[in-house]
Amino acid sequence: MVEIDTTKPHPARMYDWYLGGKDNYPVDEATGRQMFTLDPRVPVMARVNRAFMHRSTRWLAEHGVRQFLDIGTGIPTEPNLHRIAQRVVPDARVVYCDNDPIVLTQAAALLRGTDEGVTRYLQADVRDPDAILEGAGKILDFSRPVALSLIALLHFVSDEDGAHELVGRLLSELPSGSYLVVSHATADFTPEESKAATEKLKTAGVTLALRSRAEFSRFFDGLELVEPGVEVPQLWHPELGEPVPGQDDGVIPGYGAVGRKP
Ligand SMILES: C[S@@+](CC[C@H](N)C(=O)[O-])C[C@H]1O[C@@H](n2cnc3c(N)ncnc32)[C@H](O)[C@@H]1O
Repeated sequence: MVEIDTTKPHPARMYDWYLGGKDNYPVDEATGRQMFTLDPRVPVMARVNRAFMHRSTRWLAEHGVRQFLDIGTGIPTEPNLHRIAQRVVPDARVVYCDNDPIVLTQAAALLRGTDEGVTRYLQADVRDPDAILEGAGKILDFSRPVALSLIALLHFVSDEDGAHELVGRLLSELPSGSYLVVSHATADFTPEESKAATEKLKTAGVTLALRSRAEFSRFFDGLELVEPGVEVPQLWHPELGEPVPGQDDGVIPGYGAVGRKP
């Protein structure tokens, strides 16, 4: 029996609320509304992030990547990553992973219509990379390139939990030609609002570890950044998708990048 804590907000469920989904509870909506009061563009930011996932996945599949490890998958929102990858590479292998029990309850919906041999869901925490590598290794071939996709995940992982070291550990098992994809919220553009949001979320029991451009870039140490390098998410290969309505009406306080392991 999966236990869902409806007494405090969860990032997966708040994100679902921002995206207009139905898999969230009053506590998620209430906290989401507080974020919205601080910055009414939060739902646009969620969509811009999702669109970055679409474009980066398409770019990777078009550049020959056939295996994806997506950690911090979230509640299913069509199209999910495997649909985008498998549209380009029909037999692309995808392992999804999240630590929130609500995502586990949605795993069947996430994987509907796909072949179990090529797409799987793994319930695990990114702070336990060895468990993820072991589980993912049952379907992914770590002797061939893998795209490690950490999209809107790492700002929920603090430095105390070793965010950079965890990414390093995951990458250490992937061969040359693998990729790292990260999008991440930052306080660089809106310091006051970001500080207020971090404090409100902390009170609600959610850790938000906003990182500067330099701290974000450090996730890519030792990798070759794909053009255009570190960018605000909507400017990372915009030609690969459609703009999100409202994305140009102000600052999107985040970064996105893709790097290749040499
Ligand atoms: C904002 S959502 C992003 C969903 C999706 N990657 C996207 O960008 O559309 C963040 C996700 O990270 C998950 N998450 C947060 N902390 C995590 C952890 N320590 N281990 C695994 N997943 C985590 C949350 O449950 C949530 O589903």
